[in-house]
Amino acid sequence: MRCAIPLRGGDGPLASAISVGGRRIGNRFAIHPMEGWDGDPDGRPTDLTRRRWRRFGASGAKLIWGGEAVAVRRDGRANPNQLFVNPEADTAAGLADLRRQVLEGHASVGGVADDLVIGLQLTHSGRFARPDDHGPRPMIAHGHPLLARKFGLAPDHPLLTDDELAAIGDDFINAAVLAQRAGFDFVDVKCCHGYLLHELLAAHTRPGRYGGSFENRTRLFRDIVAGVRVACPDLMIGVRLSATDLIPFEPADPGGTGRPMEYAGSYRYGFGVDEGDPRRADLAEPLRLLTLLESLGIPLVNITLGSPYYCPHVQRPAAYPPSDGYLPPEDPLAGVILHLRTVRTLKAAHPGLVIVGSGYSYLQEYLPHVAEAEVDAGHVDLVGLGRMVLSYPDLPHHVLTGRPLEHGRLCRTFSDCTTAPRHGLVSGCYPLDPAYKQRPEAVELKVIKKKRRVAATEAGSR
Ligand SMILES: Cc1cc2nc3c(=O)[nH]c(=O)nc-3n(C[C@H](O)[C@H](O)[C@H](O)COP(=O)(O)O)c2cc1C
Ligand code: SF4
Repeated sequence: MRCAIPLRGGDGPLASAISVGGRRIGNRFAIHPMEGWDGDPDGRPTDLTRRRWRRFGASGAKLIWGGEAVAVRRDGRANPNQLFVNPEADTAAGLADLRRQVLEGHASVGGVADDLVIGLQLTHSGRFARPDDHGPRPMIAHGHPLLARKFGLAPDHPLLTDDELAAIGDDFINAAVLAQRAGFDFVDVKCCHGYLLHELLAAHTRPGRYGGSFENRTRLFRDIVAGVRVACPDLMIGVRLSATDLIPFEPADPGGTGRPMEYAGSYRYGFGVDEGDPRRADLAEPLRLLTLLESLGIPLVNITLGSPYYCPHVQRPAAYPPSDGYLPPEDPLAGVILHLRTVRTLKAAHPGLVIVGSGYSYLQEYLPHVAEAEVDAGHVDLVGLGRMVLSYPDLPHHVLTGRPLEHGRLCRTFSDCTTAPRHGLVSGCYPLDPAYKQRPEAVELKVIKKKRRVAATEAGSR
């Protein structure tokens, strides 16, 4: 379907600059962090990683939010191919190389560097750590009965101790030092998608200095920010935040439609969730967190929702689920609208923050129109692109230069870029990116998807 309403493109709101922390961002497109599961065993980038970052730069977007999640230490990786800070490898050199790829890609479409802002996303995967080929190695901040059930974790799985959490905080600070050395403009202290710092925000039931009260649940985050400030006074800090967690979902039957897991009583395991009805958001604490960020002088926030592990339909609305997901329980547009509405509420309450929105890829041909309208109305400052940048990285460049959209390259939310890594394959847009279409993994992926379809049909006919 084509949209008949003309875009304003290079003369419109998406082409206007915005300032943050004394830096100018030249337009209103941001590229979200997008991991490729393609680092080498020492946590360094490979050719595939470099290609992706180069394409981020060639998108024409003027804010590169983090590139991809880089683990602050070996055991904090979510997969064995994630980039990580490795004291035995020259991590800063690898990161500097990636930043250079962005700059070169950007120059290749005539972009100048002085209004291009590039950050690095820092993470510890916590509950979703899977640092080697021996399966998950969850490092959890609080007991979560539903996630324990969903992922087969023993009820008495030990919590990270306060000392262990403090040591991880030091690793974040060390990683920020390396990021600054590699030339990045800011670091994202990642608080989203169920990973450690996000999980801590929900640690209502954890005893001790990192659990219970809002002050305790934000303590490690605040300590990291304070440490980065001391170690790198000139480095800007941003935060990618899952503003709403929601109760975990599961398929009704294998390959079936998603439904919230059953839970009775007050739900004390989420952040930004209504404790009485955890299928709904409650933005009271996320708003309080944004107030905290402002008071800490953090100017830049990227709002996302949920987690790819337990409510993927909210985190990245899609027509087709990944292999570890479920059929959408609602029209995926409802997920997009939840993203838009959440950001509108947060931006209205915190006009001084520069806010990036997520979840736009499902809009497909309508993405530029909705992006233009949201920015024009002041509902969001920058529109972030996730999956769309894997299939069609030059979409921002085309919109801003008034070129017609190339419809055959629009992300159609097939979820292959998630299904592939769930089976140990590198991630990329296998259906639409010619470089991935031709890779041997594309054949493997087809076989995996076919087997899953057969299994789901058999389960459905039983
Ligand atoms: C293959 C893949 C890799 C991703 N890697 C990251 C990541 O490293 N860090 C992060 O914060 N989000 C990551 N995300 C989430 C995206 O940044 C984004 O929030 C999500 O895809 C929704 O935006 P979209 O609708 O534009 O795709 C990833 C998503 C996908 C599909
Ligand atoms: S595989 Fe390609 S088309 Fe499918 S969701 Fe990922 S980027 Fe979009």
